[in-house]
Amino acid sequence: MRGYFALGAEGISKSGNVGTILRTGHAFGASFVFTVNAVVDMTEVRVTDTSGGDDHVPFYEWASAGDMVLPQGCTLVGVELTDDAAYLPSFRHPLRAAYVFGPERGSLSRAMQDRCDHIVKIPTKFCVNVAVAAAIVTYDRMISLGRFAERPVRVGGSRELPKEQGHGRIRIRNPDSPRMRPLVGDGNKPSAVISMSDNSRRSGPMTARNALIPAAVLALLLAGPAVAQQDARPAAPPPPPPPPASAPAQDDVIVTAPAAWSRTTSPSRNTTPGSSPA
Ligand SMILES: C[S@@+](CC[C@H](N)C(=O)[O-])C[C@H]1O[C@@H](n2cnc3c(N)ncnc32)[C@H](O)[C@@H]1O
Repeated sequence: MRGYFALGAEGISKSGNVGTILRTGHAFGASFVFTVNAVVDMTEVRVTDTSGGDDHVPFYEWASAGDMVLPQGCTLVGVELTDDAAYLPSFRHPLRAAYVFGPERGSLSRAMQDRCDHIVKIPTKFCVNVAVAAAIVTYDRMISLGRFAERPVRVGGSRELPKEQGHGRIRIRNPDSPRMRPLVGDGNKPSAVISMSDNSRRSGPMTARNALIPAAVLALLLAGPAVAQQDARPAAPPPPPPPPASAPAQDDVIVTAPAAWSRTTSPSRNTTPGSSPA
C-alpha cells in the first residue's frame, strides 16, 4: 500500500477493542497504533490480538488530544458518525494518515474533532463496534490506495496482484523513427507507451537497475535486424551498462531513438533515468 497509516482510539474503555484494532493494524501494515485518554490492560489486549501486534507495531499512549505527537506531514482523520462528516466511500485517503476512533460509549471529544484535519463516517444506520469501524476504514484505505486491478464488469474476480509503487513504463520518445515503427505502428504519435509486462510488475518495485535492463533489451532488439543486414558477422551485443550507484528509482524509463542512429555499428543505448520525461 502506498504511504503509511496509523490507527488509534480515544477514550476507549475495553482493552479487548484495543487488541482488535492492534491486530487489524498489524495485519494491514499500520506504522503505529495509539490510544488517547485510555487505560489499557496489555494482558487483555493480547486476548483479542493473538498476532502479538505489540511486539511488531509501535504502540503509543497519549493522555489527551493535545499531547499527541504525530509524524511530520501526517494527516489526522477522525472517524465519527456526525452530520457534517464526509462519507467514507467518497473520501480520498491521505497518503500519510492517522485515523482516530471514538469511545465505545460516546463520541470523539470536541478537542479531538478540532484537531482532526478531516472527519469521515461509514454510511451505516447506526454505530458499529469501534474495532469493526477501524477494520472497515483500513480496508477502504487499502482498496483505494493499494493499486489493485479494476473490478471486472462480469461477476467474478481477478487474481492479478496489486501493482507495487514505482513500477515503470518504457516511453518511446521518438516514435516517428523508422526503427520504432515496428513497435508503435504508423498511426501512433509521441504518446506511445510500452507498458511493462505483468511479470515485471510481479518481480517487485522498479529500481534504477531493473529499469535499465528492459530498456537495453528493447534497444538491442530494435537494432538487431538492421545490423544483421549490413554485416553477416554475429553481432555480440555489449552488456548493459551498470546502473549509477546513486541513481534514484523513477517511474519512467525514457528510450531515446535518435534518427541518426548508425546502421553499421551497434547502437548506443541511451537510457536516461535522470532525464526529463517526454
Ligand atoms: C460504538 S461507536 C460509539 C457510539 C456512538 N458514538 C453513538 O453515538 O452511539 C464507537 C466508535 O466507532 C466509530 N464508529 C462506529 N460506527 C461508525 C460509523 N458508522 N461511522 C463512523 N464512525 C463510526 C466511531 O469512532 C465511534 O466513536
